[in-house]
Amino acid sequence: MNDVQRTWFRQARTEYTAASLVAEMTHWLIRLGVGPDLLVRATRVVSDEVRHATICRELYVHVGGDPGPVALNPRALAHADDPDAPTHLRAITAAGELACEESVALTVFRMRLENARDPMAREVCEVILRDEATHRVFAWDTLDALTALVGQEATRAWVRPRIAWWLRTYLGAKLRPVEPTFPPEDLAFGLIDRRAHWAAMRQTVEAQVLPRFQSRGLLEAEATPAMLIAELEALGGVPPGRSPPATA
Ligand SMILES: [Fe+2]
Ligand SMILES: [Fe+2]
Repeated sequence: MNDVQRTWFRQARTEYTAASLVAEMTHWLIRLGVGPDLLVRATRVVSDEVRHATICRELYVHVGGDPGPVALNPRALAHADDPDAPTHLRAITAAGELACEESVALTVFRMRLENARDPMAREVCEVILRDEATHRVFAWDTLDALTALVGQEATRAWVRPRIAWWLRTYLGAKLRPVEPTFPPEDLAFGLIDRRAHWAAMRQTVEAQVLPRFQSRGLLEAEATPAMLIAELEALGGVPPGRSPPATA
């Protein structure tokens, strides 16, 4: 598989995973009795993500990928961070993580669209970029609705120790001194050079994600990415609230 094929193969899988996770969160939101407006929007996000998975797979085939079904990772298809927590707290975890992911996705797809020259790649990026903007609003609105349901204090007590973990992919990324770059013909299919990709994701976390937690009183104003990186390292790869796997 070449870089272009790998990018869109993985993106198809990521989109399908997003559909699965939001579907699971939607079930929790229904059980919690949140307002019907939010429920309708949640189901719309699920169908958007299924469509994203479909068009990313079509683009993968368009660039010479295997037309057979895309293999999924069943372990990634269920939200497992807080499996033993009560429904309202599992829903907060899912909404918080979704808010982080959708905020970063918006930046990434804006960059993909800037690079894309192939008409099909441009169309895929345009559709996804447009939808992710509404998904980002939905995710933060869901977190707000759950905060109203559970109370500010209890929400902060649950969210605050988890923020670094939710952002682990972006805070924990370690770049090599020299990262491979892509030729213009690959960028034309919406690829992004790795250094620019990671820098933009970090920048989004700092400029958009942390301030949104801060403005909601879920993260102290003086918190910095460096502080969260230190918290993440202290977790040692184990989600907050979970004990490390027992060693024999
Ligand atoms: Fe998506
Ligand atoms: Fe999305």
